[in-house]
Amino acid sequence: MKNAFINIKELIQIEDSPKKYVSGKEMNNLPTIKNAFLIIENDIISDFGFMESFPNNIYFDKIFDVTDKLILPTWCDSHTHIVYAGNRSQEFVDRINGLTYEQIANKGGGILNSAKLLQKTSEEDLYSQSALRLEEIMHLGTGAVEIKSGYGLTKEAELKMLNVIKKLKENYPIAIKATFLGAHALPNEYKNRKSDYLKDVIDTILPQVAKENLAEFIDIFCETGYFSVEDTNQLLEAGKVYGLQPKIHVNQFNAIGGVQAGVKYNALSVDHLEEMREEDIECLKNTITMPVALPSCSYFLSIPYTPARKMIDAGLPLALATDYNPGSTPSGNMNFVVSTACVKMKMTPEEAINAATINGAYAMGLEKTHGSICRGKKANFIVTKKIPSYNFIPYSFGNHQIEKVFIEGIEI
Ligand code: NIG
Ligand code: FE
Repeated sequence: MKNAFINIKELIQIEDSPKKYVSGKEMNNLPTIKNAFLIIENDIISDFGFMESFPNNIYFDKIFDVTDKLILPTWCDSHTHIVYAGNRSQEFVDRINGLTYEQIANKGGGILNSAKLLQKTSEEDLYSQSALRLEEIMHLGTGAVEIKSGYGLTKEAELKMLNVIKKLKENYPIAIKATFLGAHALPNEYKNRKSDYLKDVIDTILPQVAKENLAEFIDIFCETGYFSVEDTNQLLEAGKVYGLQPKIHVNQFNAIGGVQAGVKYNALSVDHLEEMREEDIECLKNTITMPVALPSCSYFLSIPYTPARKMIDAGLPLALATDYNPGSTPSGNMNFVVSTACVKMKMTPEEAINAATINGAYAMGLEKTHGSICRGKKANFIVTKKIPSYNFIPYSFGNHQIEKVFIEGIEI
């Protein structure tokens, strides 16, 4: 099947040869062409260019005239927890009434609350709840997503989560990467026996996850009251044996050296980074590790935003992701993330779009196939409504500027 899109007002994030990611000043450069065409063959982008050079002489199965509309690559959401059961809207109300995220967690709410419910939920039910969220984010323009375990916290329930992710991979066209986050919180049964739980994760759950090939990445919540830098080193060392690259939760509430641990173990990404010291920024320079900011989490919990300006101005790359989960970010809307990054983190629209496309793709190891409009990459793109420019996407925050989403050449 060969389809063409013609009279594109502006074709955004084009590349002649794929790059890995953009960093520093380069993030402010978003390559586009105006009055463009785009050709896709089955699931792949085969050509694009200026309308003057559109090949009129070849046969197309379908030609879409998108006059006054823009086309940009689908969002790459490199950090989510969309496989979960139920919701935690009661905790949301508790927070409005004055409790903190930490106080709720200490009362047995938080991650343990989600784990308790997930353990009782059947795999089929968990699958259908999660599939709804996956479909929801695809309609919001996401074309590649990373999904974590971490609401199981027992061998059985962690495997159940990862099996749900595996089935989602099989049943949907969207690219999905799975991350094993067994070390997300300490289950009550292990109270005051954290090293026993970590040992269980490392000696019992991890080998099974690896054996069944259920995860590409390994994650840990490196945070005061959760897992220490020492725990992080231990887990990442174990993950290395199975070839699981780290993508880790660090510096959400406290900067305790998680960034350094991530860099030491060649993490593909270090995520959250609401609390960043000079030494954390320094440590990320000239590494393969992508820093990832999650502005909807900052918004929802009313915690500081990742200091994007400081980091980009220091020459670092930055990716943006949603963190979609029932506790800290019950939203998977990358359009809102891009807008919030502009409004609250003072990223330019160019920086935010780069961060949500090519840099997000890199943070999942998908930069060769996703994250830009490039010949040979997956035909994953958003057709906008009639809007004046790409600035309009973050500017019109909370509004829906997407008309159509194509994932692997198929209209969603
Ligand atoms: O990324 N911080 C750790 N994990 C999730 C939130 C987990 C939850 O509250 O359910 C996050 O914010
Ligand atoms: Fe998270």
